[in-house]
Amino acid sequence: KETKDQMIIDAGQKHFGAVTCKSCGMIYTAASPEDEAQHIQYHQRLLEGIKFVGWKKERILAAFWDGKIVLILPDDPKYAIKKAEEVRELVDSELGFKQATLSCPSKAKTYMFVSNEKKIVGCLIAEPIKQAHRVLVDPVHKGPQIEAENQRAWRCSTKPEAAICGISRIWVFSLLRRKGIATRMMDTVRGNFMYGSFLSLDEIAFSDPTPDGKLFATTYCKA
Ligand code: ACO
Ligand code: ZN
Repeated sequence: KETKDQMIIDAGQKHFGAVTCKSCGMIYTAASPEDEAQHIQYHQRLLEGIKFVGWKKERILAAFWDGKIVLILPDDPKYAIKKAEEVRELVDSELGFKQATLSCPSKAKTYMFVSNEKKIVGCLIAEPIKQAHRVLVDPVHKGPQIEAENQRAWRCSTKPEAAICGISRIWVFSLLRRKGIATRMMDTVRGNFMYGSFLSLDEIAFSDPTPDGKLFATTYCKA
């Protein structure tokens, strides 16, 4: 016990408190060996997972100053599917989804935002759906004290409405959030998902959103 305490104190003098890794975004205590070990593990897995080597045939749907949006379809070559799955696993572990599956993998479309540095910094998985339940804003549940709980439990209408595209996952790399990457992926999906039409907001539904997802969806659907 004594040696462990000593170690923490020594390290603490060099790097005090929490640090954010500039390449993987993880916040950890540099003074804690367990934290550092966890960081190294996360760091390597993330950087390997989001590495995008590029393919001869890429389906580029949009190009921006800071990257491009690439589409992967279920019938694509194995290496592309494998990459999409690897990214989905990273996203699922960040979202806390355990062994989550797609409702229909053979119809899912994966949209990846690839940065100029050749990293997959955004991922959106869209699936065809037939109906969705509209989220109801419940005035009784407004107020800061219930806000936290409210973020998980939305009230939905019991009456299903027709919809076309379900957003089953949406994720942006932590260090690049609030730069419009999710917005640009959504706009791209709306124009691409169904041939020959631009989907209206009513035709899109977010499945089981997280607090971040809810904040994003609320803004996106208002705009
Ligand atoms: N808090 C408040 N408002 C937000 C937030 C937030 N965390 N995120 C987005 N918004 C709103 C803002 O109004 C923002 O505009 P502004 O930055 O000019 O104020 C607007 O939405 C557009 O945001 P984008 O920059 O396009 O969104 P971003 O690229 O940051 O990605 C996302 C949003 C995908 C939710 C990201 O925060 C993320 O990956 N979070 C972790 C994973 C996650 O929870 N994903 C949602 C899961 S739900 C599902 O998959 C169906
Ligand atoms: Zn790191």
